[in-house]
Amino acid sequence: MKMPSRHAFIRSVGRYLPERRLTNKDLETMVNTTDEWIFSRTGIRERRILEPGLGNSYMAIRAALDCLERCGVAPEEVDAIILGTVTPDMFYPSTACLVQDGIGATHAWGFDLSAGCSGFIFSLTTGVQLIESGRHEKVLVIGSDVMSAIVDYEDRNTCVLFGDAAGAVLLEPCPEAGHGVLDFIQRIDGSGGKHLHMKAGGSRRPSSLETVKNKEHYVYQEGQQVFKYAVKEMANVSAQILEKNGLTGDDVAFFLPHQANLRIIEASANRMGIDRSKVVINIEKYANTTAATVPLCLYDVLVEEKRVKKGDYLVMSAFGAGFTWGSVLIRWWE
Ligand code: UT7
Repeated sequence: MKMPSRHAFIRSVGRYLPERRLTNKDLETMVNTTDEWIFSRTGIRERRILEPGLGNSYMAIRAALDCLERCGVAPEEVDAIILGTVTPDMFYPSTACLVQDGIGATHAWGFDLSAGCSGFIFSLTTGVQLIESGRHEKVLVIGSDVMSAIVDYEDRNTCVLFGDAAGAVLLEPCPEAGHGVLDFIQRIDGSGGKHLHMKAGGSRRPSSLETVKNKEHYVYQEGQQVFKYAVKEMANVSAQILEKNGLTGDDVAFFLPHQANLRIIEASANRMGIDRSKVVINIEKYANTTAATVPLCLYDVLVEEKRVKKGDYLVMSAFGAGFTWGSVLIRWWE
């Protein structure tokens, strides 16, 4: 693959977390589950839930404004908005359009990107390539999902796993060679779609009284099938990005994995040979927020803990519905 003449770097990060917390204890009163089962199988203690009726754009707008305010960039300066999600406000217009209008990004174009839990990293690498092309100077990348809108709170297999949140980053051309978003590996395998999908509401099976009665508008997941594939592929792709770039786990300052299950995160970290202290884990607080997990990890380590330094290597990895998966290698600039 030809090397780009310039790289993109992440200039800023922002997030939005709904106020309302839904704890494992709360879920014990709703379905036949226990805090012990949820925590030991997944690592989750609580998740945030958006007030019904607000929609994805409510969170995405707030994460985007937080990101822009942190670096003093005005919304009118943004050239493009890419929003990874599986829970848009509506089929159309895209949620990217609603965010553009909501923040006043009067010179931007943009689109939504559907890649399940890989939605943020696929959006990030797409934005990176808009910068690398030389045609864009400022690209806003958002991962935002309202999973509470598509989860059946009578199904213990799925309702304990997910939460709502949005994260956003701003990409700009990197002023210094050898820094910024250096490389990525991404894959899809549509044969895995049968294990994790929404059965109705699309063009193949439009919404009807019957689809509502059959609860076909909720997350359908065969947990163990997804788990097996996720453990293997997220671990592989996390190790491959290091091998490809002549690095080892010791060279990496922070690993920012998708937060679906602590056991999947640990398998990936082990394959990379990376110390647990470098793995960013916040699944306990936020659960699986689909496209928002990776930017929430970046926010924790960069804004809250202020642990990232210039020259640090960061690896992001994700696995999700599709199946989709990938990893991204960043050398931090600024
Ligand atoms: O982010 C997108 C990609 N998604 C993922 O990566 C998720 C991957 N999958 C997983 O993380 C795990 O498979 C789950 C956390 C979803 C489930 O954990 P598991 O260890 O694979 O459990 P299981 O599905 O094999 O279920 C084991 C038992 C079953 O009971 P029986 O059949 O053994 O009697 C379930 O009915 O646990 C039962 N169970 C529960 N029990 C209490 C399932 N959900 C619950 C629950 N509380 N919430």
